[in-house]
Amino acid sequence: MTAIGPIPTVSASGAKIPLVGLGTWDLRGRTCARVVEQALRLGYRHVDTAEMYDNEREVGEGLGASGVKRRDVFVTTKIWPSHFAPPALERAAHDCLARLRLSEVDLLLLHWPNPQIPLSETLGALCKVKRDGLARHIGISNFTVALIEEALRLANEPLVCNQVECHPFLDQSKIIAACRQHGMAVVAYSPIARGNAKNDKVLGRIGSAHKKTAAQICLRYLVQRDIVVIPRTSKLERLSENAALFDFALSEEEMAEIAALAHRNGRVVDWSYSGRTEWD
Ligand SMILES: NC(=O)c1ccc[n+]([C@@H]2O[C@H](COP(=O)([O-])OP(=O)(O)OC[C@H]3O[C@@H](n4cnc5c(N)ncnc54)[C@H](OP(=O)(O)O)[C@@H]3O)[C@@H](O)[C@H]2O)c1
Repeated sequence: MTAIGPIPTVSASGAKIPLVGLGTWDLRGRTCARVVEQALRLGYRHVDTAEMYDNEREVGEGLGASGVKRRDVFVTTKIWPSHFAPPALERAAHDCLARLRLSEVDLLLLHWPNPQIPLSETLGALCKVKRDGLARHIGISNFTVALIEEALRLANEPLVCNQVECHPFLDQSKIIAACRQHGMAVVAYSPIARGNAKNDKVLGRIGSAHKKTAAQICLRYLVQRDIVVIPRTSKLERLSENAALFDFALSEEEMAEIAALAHRNGRVVDWSYSGRTEWD
């Protein structure tokens, strides 16, 4: 495994978010702690977890074992929609910190919209949690264009990002444009389409021309547009591959060819949590 060079950041309302982070959904127990530790030793400086992943304890262990200074790592976690009523949200944020063994996270997100609880109450609680020092920055995840705008109207603290499914097989141009218009970062989850990128012929061909893998071309396509990526791997040997994205560039023609891979059924994550069927 090769150490990786410095990872650039994107700025949004005072937050500096490393363009590559480690996704941890579905990483459990010893594997999770080892992957987090090794990623940080290699040069990753951003880790994404959530209370729903049931691995915050192990993420905290990996952070501690890595020897990397706390202030040098950007840690994101997310509150599950069943905890969106104000007292529950505050309690959930405290519980996340206790499991992670941190005094604050860098970014605290609302994991999915919850139409059962007024957004004004949830955002009031999220902003308070930030003001109380539990999170340096706050944001949202899986919010549609209409909900982004509603959230921004209701929040009295900056919302620094929207974390959404984003990869070449899915057209997220409307969400991306809305985030940009409001100065929010876009964080791409499932950025290699749950591994599907590795079998794509176009990504493979472009990869051969750059001596890169199809997964790296897929991730480069996103970071070249200042979209933060949080690929997940359970395999230590893939950690360097997924972060070695800053020693080459895709041409305009290559970017356009990759953009054309988007199709109607490109989504890989079940979107039914949101209670909606359309993004906008
Ligand atoms: N906010 C949300 O609602 C939400 C939803 C989904 C995900 N997320 C976050 O986003 C992160 C990433 O998304 P994801 O886990 O859904 O999918 P992903 O990162 O797109 O893909 C992960 C899959 O790809 C494989 N893989 C990793 N690197 C590879 C490479 N270089 N070549 C080929 N295959 C590779 C992994 O297998 P191996 O383990 O075998 O390498 C794993 O099966 C999550 O872990 C989580 O932190 C957030």
